[in-house]
Amino acid sequence: MVCQCTLNTLAYVALTYFIYRFFRAIYEIVYPYLIATPLDLHKLSGGAKWAIVTGSTDGIGKEYAFDLAKKGFNIILISRTQTKLDSVKEEIKKECKNIEVETIAYNFTNANVDDYKKKIISVIEKKDIGILVNNVGLSYAVPDMLHKVDLQENADIAIVNMIPVSILTAAVIPQMVERNAGIIVNISSGAAYVKCPQVATYGASKAFVNHFSSILRLEYANSGITIQTLCPGYVSTNMSKVKVSLMALSAKAYAQSAIRTIGIIPETTGCIQHQLQSLAFALPESLMVYFAKLELEKTKLAINEREKAAKQQ
Ligand SMILES: NC(=O)c1ccc[n+]([C@@H]2O[C@H](COP(=O)([O-])OP(=O)(O)OC[C@H]3O[C@@H](n4cnc5c(N)ncnc54)[C@H](OP(=O)(O)O)[C@@H]3O)[C@@H](O)[C@H]2O)c1
Repeated sequence: MVCQCTLNTLAYVALTYFIYRFFRAIYEIVYPYLIATPLDLHKLSGGAKWAIVTGSTDGIGKEYAFDLAKKGFNIILISRTQTKLDSVKEEIKKECKNIEVETIAYNFTNANVDDYKKKIISVIEKKDIGILVNNVGLSYAVPDMLHKVDLQENADIAIVNMIPVSILTAAVIPQMVERNAGIIVNISSGAAYVKCPQVATYGASKAFVNHFSSILRLEYANSGITIQTLCPGYVSTNMSKVKVSLMALSAKAYAQSAIRTIGIIPETTGCIQHQLQSLAFALPESLMVYFAKLELEKTKLAINEREKAAKQQ
């Protein structure tokens, strides 16, 4: 039989753990978003002048590029469509006259390492890269059960969400290690925490981003490199197709909030609204899945509305 003192000890351990989790959750909401003063990104980058943003012609990536340009970084925009890259470059140059902007058109469904070397890594090696924002990501045209998703779409989601973050991070790290400074921001998703049906490859690929970043934080713990994982909830963009609301921020508001947390917290959602929502991650899994399914219905509704509007035009 288990003695009373063992039961008491277990109860105290459990209580201490729950108190720790409770205060940790409060800290993660309050400190980065309401108390901390944003850090000087130029200092964290070791004075390096260039920032790279992938998937930077739309949504969150475009707003990261704008914000970092306003902070005085030269920007390398990488996305798949040259015309969109040119127009984002022009927009940034109009607002930020004293910085340089370069563009690289690359379709990240191409995982060929020689192509990465030729088109991207050769450029990276010639510049002092202070910040890498691994933002590019792909989700489903319409979420569905795995066997109903087009095989190529499924493969593209896995490739785009996992390969660029690993190759580009490996490509910038040598110069950051040498400089003993640098910032890498890996954009994951709240989907990394929830086993949400109908987005299996997306959710699993985002869990990869979280795990990958956590391991790198250990590997490069003494290198001066800041590695941040961001796990947003809904942000109003082409990908999510949801409208701006109290919980679904505009890409601009989201990026501005998230950038303020660089160097302050290693893994976060990026804004206080999503940090509050993330309290749900402490719920039992069945409840979490239930809420995730409700959220997914919102996406499907938004996709339907968009398709209807497109047909009416
Ligand atoms: N929006 C959300 O609610 C939400 C929530 C959680 C996580 N996230 C994550 O946040 C990141 C940004 O999402 P977003 O909503 O801002 O996306 P978005 O508005 O759809 O923008 C995606 C960007 O990536 C580029 N891109 C897409 N596929 C590409 C490819 N194969 N090769 C090169 N570039 C490609 C797009 O270029 P084109 O303009 O040429 O298409 C665009 O610039 C993603 O990693 C996403 O998973 C978003």
